[in-house]
Amino acid sequence: MTDDERFSLLVSVMGTNPVLPVKDPRIPDGVPMSAGYVPGVERLGVPALLMSDASLGVTNPGYRPGDTATALPAGILLGSTFSPALARTSGTLLGREARSRGFNVQLAGGLNLARDPRNGRNFEYLSEDPLLSAVLAAASVNGIQAEGVISTVKHYSLNCNETNRHWLDAIIDPAAHRESDLLAFELAIEWSHPGAVMTGYNKINGAYAGGNRILIEDILKGVWDFPGWVMSDWGATPSWEFALAGLDQESGLQVDKMLWQAEAFTDDLRAAYADGRVPSERLSDMVRRILRSIYAIGVDHWGPAPEVDLAAHHRIALDTARQGIVLLKNDGLLPLAAHPRICVIGGHAQVGVVTGCGSSAVTPPGGYAEVVRIGGAHGGMGEGRNLYLLPGAPLAELQKLLPGAHLEFDPGMSPAEAAMSARRADVAVVFGIRVEGEGFDNADLSLPWGQDAVIEAVAEANPNTVVVLETGNPVDMPWLDRVRAVVEAWYPGQAGGQAIAEVLTGAVNPSGHLPVTFPRSLDQHPRPVLDGLDTGWGTPTTVHYQEGSDVGYRWLAERGEEPLFPFGHGLSYTTFGYADLQVEAGDTVTATFTIRNTGDRAGADVPQLYLTEAAGQQRLRLLEFARVGLEPGESRRVTVEAEPRLLARYDGADGVTGCWRIEAGRHAVAIGHSATDLVLAADVELAGRAFGA
Ligand code: BGC
Repeated sequence: MTDDERFSLLVSVMGTNPVLPVKDPRIPDGVPMSAGYVPGVERLGVPALLMSDASLGVTNPGYRPGDTATALPAGILLGSTFSPALARTSGTLLGREARSRGFNVQLAGGLNLARDPRNGRNFEYLSEDPLLSAVLAAASVNGIQAEGVISTVKHYSLNCNETNRHWLDAIIDPAAHRESDLLAFELAIEWSHPGAVMTGYNKINGAYAGGNRILIEDILKGVWDFPGWVMSDWGATPSWEFALAGLDQESGLQVDKMLWQAEAFTDDLRAAYADGRVPSERLSDMVRRILRSIYAIGVDHWGPAPEVDLAAHHRIALDTARQGIVLLKNDGLLPLAAHPRICVIGGHAQVGVVTGCGSSAVTPPGGYAEVVRIGGAHGGMGEGRNLYLLPGAPLAELQKLLPGAHLEFDPGMSPAEAAMSARRADVAVVFGIRVEGEGFDNADLSLPWGQDAVIEAVAEANPNTVVVLETGNPVDMPWLDRVRAVVEAWYPGQAGGQAIAEVLTGAVNPSGHLPVTFPRSLDQHPRPVLDGLDTGWGTPTTVHYQEGSDVGYRWLAERGEEPLFPFGHGLSYTTFGYADLQVEAGDTVTATFTIRNTGDRAGADVPQLYLTEAAGQQRLRLLEFARVGLEPGESRRVTVEAEPRLLARYDGADGVTGCWRIEAGRHAVAIGHSATDLVLAADVELAGRAFGA
């Protein structure tokens, strides 16, 4: 390859979008607008790379005419399914839809841990737990790549807040990092071999993610032996020197130009190469890694584009929503019996369901039901911060399932008006929504637009009140004791309206379980006040992740605090019992138990295996889980085996040269319905051992 050809592979150019309305001349005519374009080398048969977002569907930032795609539920809803099978299926959907549009790189695999319930992007991610995140991300990436489309995993690592994300320094103990966010990446990469890893915007312990030698060279490419390429996030390459720390490709050049006044990997990198500051072996390595993934995943020998069955894909979106909506509270009001008069209040439930905003927003078939401009102060991101409503209104869907009932809609604009409507009804279903998205953290956990006051007034007016939440994160529920049922529907995707109605009426038995802890308040969080939150965009900000690897439920368990709703929690219209736990110890722990559907409806449950004590020390860790569907009265023996790294601690202060170490001695494990509802416990004696690196 000539140097020109080699350098051309090291940068991607962004297509048009609302912030970059003029097409970059480096993108040839006829190339579908997308997040990133890398020219191919025709004479050598190297295909151009066409990159698209992301995990929730194929996005359309440049508004390719008429091009819509399946809008899947949010990542946090997929997390709530605890279903690797669904993650794989939706990955396959992403791969097929990407490929049918000519995209061969899907910027999917978002698996940052939900460390902070204010993070505006948690809806894109999967959970607060490394194992659950890794299992689901790996399944999704495997689905995408089996279709011949390269997938990333992202954003490596600790891009866990949006506040000043380009200037955010995430400080963490390196060993604790290995046991948490890095463990999620390590396992997901091991189980799915993504073609590329995308770095985060932030710094980690003082060095930008894209220029972080420890994270890229030492851990990712060194200890884990990752053979693929490392790309930056869009606008996250302020310097050509990142190449020396292991970054292989600068993404979305124009965003770097806007933010850092230069394109690092074009002229600057070439100049550094010309005068010997970039060794030729490094340049070869960058190129080789990109080519390797192209050939390993088969992007070079695509056959004809696959047929896309949008109706079948709609059913996948529906199935995911059905399995991921979480019934948080129910004192018997749900499923809704044949009530003659039901009032549905607020949340634009007469129009559609909410979806998150930012680079992951997908235009569904037929377009959005409505887009309400929201905006915001931060950088260019205010442009894409909108209330996007996907068609499939919960109101109409409920009416379909309850043909005999009289449904009245109240917009939830004023507490007094909503209360009048609620007083006239047998049951009130109030929707609580929140717009969350990329570029913005939530200031707190409250519902905006006075919705809490509306819910309070409705609950006061009608004792039979159900709250349905469409949010991307846990929220405060000051009214919790005064409502009879709460459903967390997250951002439920293009079939979400139907799935919500089915769960409310019992046509579907809810089976989602929380992939994140709902705290009682931010006082329970390691950072009740988020650093930088009240500063202007662009302020250098340092966040100390002092909880280390004790993210979410682990943090609360350490401190003996009870959450509002625990990680793993999710109710059903039936009940499940666990019995006869047998545990075997060897290199790891294997648990076998019986699960029985003790109620009178078919349903699915997610029994969870936790470590509760390790060699005399209290330590709560999810070790494994299963998703089990059972008919009434049916029982099944289930065996789950722990990933040994979850029984171990990372022993090595630098996070690089150490190893995993299981302490010799008594370990306690338990099977539970959630992180705080542990039902069967057992002790095992483990031999001490050190392994891995
Ligand atoms: C996001 C990435 C995304 C990229 C390209 C960035 O703003 O952080 O997740 O893949 O844009 O659209």
